[in-house]
Amino acid sequence: MKFFVDTADVAAIRELNDLGMVDGVTTNPSIIAKSGRDIKEVTAEICAMIPGKPVSAETVALDAEGMIAEGRELARIADNIAIKVPLTWEGLKACKVLTGEGRMVNVTLCFSANQALLAAKAGATFISPFVGRLDDINIDGMELIAEIRQIYDNYDFPTEILTASIRTVNHMKEAALLGADVATAPPAVIKSMANHVLTDKGLDAFLQDWAKTGQKIL
Ligand code: E4P
Repeated sequence: MKFFVDTADVAAIRELNDLGMVDGVTTNPSIIAKSGRDIKEVTAEICAMIPGKPVSAETVALDAEGMIAEGRELARIADNIAIKVPLTWEGLKACKVLTGEGRMVNVTLCFSANQALLAAKAGATFISPFVGRLDDINIDGMELIAEIRQIYDNYDFPTEILTASIRTVNHMKEAALLGADVATAPPAVIKSMANHVLTDKGLDAFLQDWAKTGQKIL
């Protein structure tokens, strides 16, 4: 499963990228607003850090024509831009045109299997089902990932399932178990995948025993 990082925090992306943990980056208007930076400037910086890997930048127009124009403008930032459009009828139209031009398109704000089916038919490169926001309204977000996986496999759709709105390490594990192609998560979630209480406890015990030996390795 590919790891995308859901942030515009350049330092956080760099830290994970140095460890080989970054296969792409996703942003959205809220993430850009939080960064406090100019969208083109920060996106260009991220694209340069991970050449050849997709960096999603989102359009904000509501009509297809506007999304197409914004998408083309965002794609000028770098070769590795994936244009993000919302899963609306207009967004699907924009997806069809932009993918027809050979651009990567990430169809976002997906909350149902039928929406994901339409995105695949429109030629989306990525579909972004938002699991955390479904969990927030007491619908199991991971069930949606399983449904989309089944549908895409039934018909060999090449659209990649990009599990989004990830809030917990369990989301990461379940996405991988269900065969999601990609999971995008905040840096803190990816880093906390390394944590386990028994690792901490075991390390503590080893160090206490080691201290008793009086030995040094270096
Ligand atoms: C994905 O592309 C979105 O940017 C993101 O995962 C949304 O997550 P949120 O629901 O935590 O805002």
